Amino acid sequence: MSDVYASISAVHGYVPDDVLTNHDLEQMVDTSDEWIVSRTGIKERRILKGEGKATTDMGVEVVKGLLEKSGTDPSEIDLVILATVTSDMNFPDGANTICSKCGINNAFAYDISAACSGFVFSLFTGAQFIKTGAYKKVIVLGVDKMSSIVDYTDRSTCIIFGDGGGGVLLEPSEGDLGIRDAVMGGDGSGREYLYQTAGGSLKPASAETVAAREHFVTQIGRPVFKAAVSGMKDSVTTLLERNNLTKDEIDWIVPHQANIRIINTLASMLDFPMDKVVVNIDKYGNTTDGTIPLCLWEFESKFKKGDKIVLTAFGGGFTWGSILLDWAYDSN
Ligand code: UT7
Repeated sequence: MSDVYASISAVHGYVPDDVLTNHDLEQMVDTSDEWIVSRTGIKERRILKGEGKATTDMGVEVVKGLLEKSGTDPSEIDLVILATVTSDMNFPDGANTICSKCGINNAFAYDISAACSGFVFSLFTGAQFIKTGAYKKVIVLGVDKMSSIVDYTDRSTCIIFGDGGGGVLLEPSEGDLGIRDAVMGGDGSGREYLYQTAGGSLKPASAETVAAREHFVTQIGRPVFKAAVSGMKDSVTTLLERNNLTKDEIDWIVPHQANIRIINTLASMLDFPMDKVVVNIDKYGNTTDGTIPLCLWEFESKFKKGDKIVLTAFGGGFTWGSILLDWAYDSN
């Protein structure tokens, strides 16, 4: 393999304007602001409203921002990967829709579905195309319209999720900065704890499945919580060990935003200071594939060229993964 690294050369994010607060949810289900904040850290989340508005509409905003910020012409893009569990339709994939709406005509594009780990899986996948020398400009997106699959009568899930996402442009790095290594994993036996029953080939959508509310997300929270902590902790630990790095050499950890208690527990088990852990769950909740790119977008101005950053995620499947990278630019 070559010494070329794929580095992030631009980052952008998008959240819809409409805000759904904990107080709004108190009017919809039997819950309280106090319960939601103390159990999850979430104060509000964004909801994409409007007839005909879907995940790719948010993806288009992200791609336009990436192209503009990086001064890239759409024709230069080689590949677009969209991590999502809420593509506009089961097929065609959303990535191609985004390309056609952004004038990206020389690329191939596809979606990756790996629940909340989809963005890190996609980022590592996209990086391989650069590392092999096959491509020079790859866009990786993580975007979800979770409000389209959340049951707003189920208090155990509707308080968690929100809409939004972001993405990055990957290019060959000029020095030796960029994506270094990744530890990815999965355990399909976890599928019984986080799933969408109907609408797939196992149980195609029907009047009965809709009446039974089976096309919404179901989550058994506690086992997912435990597995999330261990999946992220173990993959980060392996990543540091095999790269001969101590925790003190890491400048930032960017974790998937599922629950502030998961993030606090992870930081404590890694003995890593919370002021170097990126958190924005209070504002956006869990946007599934959107959380990590939204964090990169919001904290971009704090990252310095050469900072060592670890991204870590856990999601349904179960799936998990951590990526080690050297940030490649000073944003200002
Ligand atoms: O992003 C993909 C991966 N997902 C995750 O990582 C999520 C992991 N899980 C979690 O974050 C947490 O398990 C939840 C936030 C989903 C739930 O928190 P919890 O502390 O595990 O609560 P619980 O499910 O054990 O429920 C505790 C109690 C129950 O009442 P009883 O049985 O003790 O009387 C629930 O019915 O809290 C009740 N409850 C609520 N009460 C008020 C559940 N949801 C609510 C609510 N408002 N919204």
